[in-house]
Amino acid sequence: MNEDSQSSFAHLINSNLENFSNEEILQKLVSLFPGKVCFSTSFSFEDQVITEMVKDLPIKIFTLDTGRLFEETYNTWNLTRSKYNISVKAYYPDGEELEPFVQENGPDSFYRSVENRKTCCDIRKVHPLKRALQGNKVWITGLRAEHSSARENLSQFEWDESNQIIKFHPLLHWTTGEVKNYIQQHQIPYNSLHDKGFVSIGCAPCTRAIQPGEDFRAGRWWWEDASKKECGLHVHK
Ligand code: ADX
Ligand code: SF4
Repeated sequence: MNEDSQSSFAHLINSNLENFSNEEILQKLVSLFPGKVCFSTSFSFEDQVITEMVKDLPIKIFTLDTGRLFEETYNTWNLTRSKYNISVKAYYPDGEELEPFVQENGPDSFYRSVENRKTCCDIRKVHPLKRALQGNKVWITGLRAEHSSARENLSQFEWDESNQIIKFHPLLHWTTGEVKNYIQQHQIPYNSLHDKGFVSIGCAPCTRAIQPGEDFRAGRWWWEDASKKECGLHVHK
């Protein structure tokens, strides 16, 4: 961590921001780090709630368009643009990396090995993420503790060593019920796959609906061992 980022992070932690409402924290962040706060949306339930919270603030909103998203996700993106009149910046995989990888391994090599799957996630998500975060000081995400055991012990504010950025998870302690109520109350457009048993939604070939009682992330990379189910966007210690 460089000295400047270190003092920004220490300042945030010492300000006991966790005692404030999300709206107050977001206001504070944009005044502490003008022009350097960004929010990544995958148009999930959680991200739609955060979009409503940040819509009038000078916060850059971006998405990582992997090229393999569901049609329903693009529909949600369109609906979000219409409702809020906001522009979402899309980051795409680098063709120089993607083209030889697909040529050599085919379009769906992620089903054959964890290594292929991770390389695909690196090319389509992790590397574009690095570009998206460049120049920013704070990265807002829709992570929730209920998502997985790896996310259970996170703090609302974290220092992300691999991306050298402060992360803020406004909905970390929200329950699924609270997220759904907020969506309903504010009449927020959401991904219609959520009504068909999809909970955590990523790329189409790597996401399926879950059965009642199954884990939140059971529908992601369902053919893999549960301990490997992160794509590298969020690296938990
Ligand atoms: S992942 O690590 O498994 O892919 P998950 O789908 O749980 O992440 O989403 C957690 C948070 O990561 C989202 O709330 C969002 O902030 C960010 N995120 C995930 N996928 C994307 C994406 N394609 N584009 C932008 N942000 C994303
Ligand atoms: Fe590739 Fe699947 Fe990862 Fe999407 S989720 S980047 S299709 S391996």
